[in-house]
Amino acid sequence: MSTTYHERRGQIETYFDRTAAEAWARLTSDAPVSGIRATVRAGRDRMRGTLLSWLPADMLGMRLLDAGCGTGALAVEAALRGAQVVAIDLSPTLVQLAGERQPREAIALAGGQIDFRSGDMLDPALGEFDYVVGMDSLIHYQAADAVKVLSGLSQRSRRAVLFSYAPSSPALQLMQAVGKLFPRGNRSPWIVPVRRDKLDRLMATDTELVAWRGARTERIASGFYTSQALELVRA
Ligand SMILES: C[S@@+](CC[C@H](N)C(=O)[O-])C[C@H]1O[C@@H](n2cnc3c(N)ncnc32)[C@H](O)[C@@H]1O
Repeated sequence: MSTTYHERRGQIETYFDRTAAEAWARLTSDAPVSGIRATVRAGRDRMRGTLLSWLPADMLGMRLLDAGCGTGALAVEAALRGAQVVAIDLSPTLVQLAGERQPREAIALAGGQIDFRSGDMLDPALGEFDYVVGMDSLIHYQAADAVKVLSGLSQRSRRAVLFSYAPSSPALQLMQAVGKLFPRGNRSPWIVPVRRDKLDRLMATDTELVAWRGARTERIASGFYTSQALELVRA
C-alpha cells in the first residue's frame, strides 16, 4: 500500500483511539447527545440499517468481516443473524469497548459469534469471508487509497463487499469549513468526499475490481451526516 495510506492510517488510529475515543463511545451509545450529533447518530442508524438490509436475514454459518468495526454495532446485528463475524478496527480502545458491549448470550443463542481484533482490516491472516462490510471506514482515505483497500477486501469476499463513502455534497463542504474553525487537536481527520464517477473510473482500472460491479446504492443524509452506501458484487 502507498505512503499516503500508511500516513493516513496512523492519523485515523490516533484520532479514533485517543482524540475522539470518548466522543465516539458516546455517539454510538444510547446516552443523550445534542443537536448536530443527534442528526449524525440518526443518519448512522439508517446507514447501518441499509447495509444490514442488503445482507441475508439468516446468516447461520456465514462468515462476515466488519472492516473498521468501531464499537461493533453492525457486527452484533450480523452475529444475531447467526454469522461468524470477524470485527477489526485500528483502535484497541474501541475494540475493547465493542467486546464489552456485545450481548454474548443473545449472540450465542442465535448461533453467531464475534471475534474482535485490533489491527488493519487488510491483514490477509483474517482469511476469507462470504461478506465484507465497511461502514464509513474508508471515508478518511484519498479516493485512490480507498479503492486499493476495496481491491484488497474484494479478494477476501466470496459474495459481496458493502461499504459507504462520503459523496461530494454541499453539506460535507460546509462540515469541512466548520471543522477548520476548531483547534487542530479537536479536528476529525479529513473526510474525503468522492464523486461516484471518479470511484467508478478508479475501480475500472483496478486489476481485482474489474471483476466486480456496483449494484444497489443508497444515499443517507441526516443533518451533518451524508454517506452513500454501495454494494459491490461479482460482475
Ligand atoms: C467512522 S468510523 C466507523 C466505525 C464503524 N464502522 C461504525 O460505523 O460505527 C471508521 C472506523 O474505521 C476504522 N479504520 C479506518 N481504517 C482502518 C483500517 N485500515 N483497518 C482497520 N480499521 C480502520 C477507524 O479506526 C474507525 O474506527
